[in-house]
Amino acid sequence: MTRCVVVGRGAREHALAFALANSAEVVVTPGNAGMAAHGLAISDLSATELGADLVVIGPEAPLVEGLADELRATGVAVFGPGADGARLEGSKAYLKGFLAAAGVPSARYDVVDTVEAAEARLRAATPPYVVKTDGLAAGKGVLVTDSLEAALADAREKLSGRAFGEAGRRLVIEEGLVGEECSIHAICDGERFATLAVAQDYKRLGEGDRGPNTGGMGAYAPVGRLDAGTLGAIEESVLAPTIAELRRRGVDYRGVLYAGMMLTSEGPRLIEYNVRFGDPEAEVLAPLYREGLADLLGSAAEGRLGPVPAPAGAAVTVVLAAAGYPESPRAGEVIEGLGPDGQLGEPLEGVVVFHAGTARDAGRFVTAGGRVLAVTGTGPDLATARARAYEGASRIDFPGCQRRLDVARGAS
Ligand code: AMP
Ligand code: GLY
Repeated sequence: MTRCVVVGRGAREHALAFALANSAEVVVTPGNAGMAAHGLAISDLSATELGADLVVIGPEAPLVEGLADELRATGVAVFGPGADGARLEGSKAYLKGFLAAAGVPSARYDVVDTVEAAEARLRAATPPYVVKTDGLAAGKGVLVTDSLEAALADAREKLSGRAFGEAGRRLVIEEGLVGEECSIHAICDGERFATLAVAQDYKRLGEGDRGPNTGGMGAYAPVGRLDAGTLGAIEESVLAPTIAELRRRGVDYRGVLYAGMMLTSEGPRLIEYNVRFGDPEAEVLAPLYREGLADLLGSAAEGRLGPVPAPAGAAVTVVLAAAGYPESPRAGEVIEGLGPDGQLGEPLEGVVVFHAGTARDAGRFVTAGGRVLAVTGTGPDLATARARAYEGASRIDFPGCQRRLDVARGAS
């Protein structure tokens, strides 16, 4: 049996490990307190020390730092790009130059590193204003606002280094795109790619997409209203030229390329690339491909991409976030409704609980992060999956728990 190591500690890695464990022996490093179910093992040892046939790297930071290169140098198959490929996410300024070279449609932009240049650019723009830190900022480096004052204040704060340190000393100021967003995940083997079911993320904290941007409060897949023609156009105008440009630059990209797309009235535009699975998109996608995930990711890691199987129905994920999230999440609140293995105290068909920010305290689970749990419902169709996800989520509670009730509402 394939021995697979998953690197990471969030609900995304929990979901990947859960699905991989269907056909592989799985160890998660460092994992978290809620990952003990489903036959998963947790270890403090590094991926190198653990030894594996396949290593799947979950988060962007170790990819940007070159963990995939280090592991590949020891001869192990790795799902996740090297540091060269990870620059697509690690630097927004690099990304924008790359997209221009590849001819991928994306927002017009300027790179600025002084307050004067930022002000001049913003004053010449029309709303919505978009101000991004160049470097990684844990998903919180982007402001989209209709207020010029807010945009100016944000640019000053970021450039000062106070808000995001070095990551904010250079900014990308972009044309604001308007339309529906969707998440396209392409599995890549260095030469070829194949897309998974299209997913939708709910980024804002509040219902009706109000409130601050978060890491993501819920997701569903597949997105039925994105027809095959539009997906085909995205593959042709966005993904194919990206893989070609990567190859031109000598980058052997093996991993998932997650294209955040905006469907504008002028056609699909790329908002950004991530070099790993979305979180919470992974919590819907991994269960849908549970049957074949180990083979699929293994084949990509070995440069011989196999076919993407059909998704097993539909999935909906509801995130339960801590009081005070995203600014200052409250830790240590006791979570009700979970059994000793971290799953629902009373199991429900088609419901699985992925842990993001939990810890064990005197035998109970307590909150220990911003996003605490991701409750996924699966079923033959979205309506069933949604009903299951919300029924599961309704059985879990903790003081100050924040959740959106409109994930996948009206979706079909
Ligand atoms: P990111 O942190 O890069 O994922 O961006 C966070 C969110 O900001 C995206 O999911 C979009 O909702 C929004 N966003 C980023 N760039 C733009 C843009 N050029 N126009 C409109 N919205 C954007
Ligand atoms: N769900 C958004 C992200 O993972 O970046």
